[in-house]
Amino acid sequence: MSAEAAVDVELKDVRRAFGATQALRGVSLAVHAGEVYGLVGPDGAGKTTSIRLMAGLLLPDAGQVRTLSEDPAAPRSHVRESLGLVPQRNTLYGDLSVEENLRFFARLFALSKEDFAERRARLLDITRLGRFTDRRADALSGGMYKKLALACALLHRPRVLLLDEPTNGVDPVSRRELWELLYGLVHEGMTLIVSTPYMDEAARCHRVGLLYAGELIAQGAPRELTRAHGVAASDFEAVFLALVEKHTGGRAA
Ligand SMILES: Nc1ncnc2c1ncn2[C@@H]1O[C@H](COP(=O)(O)OP(=O)(O)OP(=O)(O)O)[C@@H](O)[C@H]1O
Ligand SMILES: [Mg+2]
Repeated sequence: MSAEAAVDVELKDVRRAFGATQALRGVSLAVHAGEVYGLVGPDGAGKTTSIRLMAGLLLPDAGQVRTLSEDPAAPRSHVRESLGLVPQRNTLYGDLSVEENLRFFARLFALSKEDFAERRARLLDITRLGRFTDRRADALSGGMYKKLALACALLHRPRVLLLDEPTNGVDPVSRRELWELLYGLVHEGMTLIVSTPYMDEAARCHRVGLLYAGELIAQGAPRELTRAHGVAASDFEAVFLALVEKHTGGRAA
């Protein structure tokens, strides 16, 4: 990653509360073009809130959110046209088939017939869903369902893809396949922001931001973080636990 790479997504001292819950307590981070950036943290850390802010689906209480140099929540923002989003929870139409879901999202993005035909073929190919186009989304395996959600979010060729826990509930083989697919897309120039509670997935990212209870407690390349803590590169979990311990002064459960 070159130092001059453009910043695609930026949070500056962002705060967001839901009632009495401080979901984000002043988070600042910058994601560069072409990067795989991992938002890593346990349940309730603020990953989904961060992603929703980046997509313009939520407003911050304080601080600034910039996505592709715009305020993604501004009424006339065109950012959504360049953004792909796969939310954490099921977002497909379960009683529609693979084919029907793809067609539905193509209409949402106002894809031309030709464009859709080309994208459909390519996405069915890379997700290997081609044999299952007639299958209802509800009847797909967990891994296939995630791949279909991904395919639907990629129809309009987003420059930035936001994935909220894309491999949750996916078997190890499908997880690896999903990651290979994602690397392929990044290789073609896409920027990827992915949230995960899994430490082994953190190691797959170019850089990670470690979120804990609404705060970014560390940021950097996984290997730099493991080296700084004197643990094996594969032992990202040890780094996370050490950072949480340091951050909370041992108060964390
Ligand atoms: N709409 C909401 N209303 C009330 N509280 C919310 C809402 N959205 C998030 N929160 C709270 O804000 C905190 C951060 O939530 P968030 O969903 O961002 O966490 P997360 O890191 O995505 O967690 P998970 O891994 O469980 O998905 C949590 O305490 C959560 O309960
Ligand atoms: Mg979440």
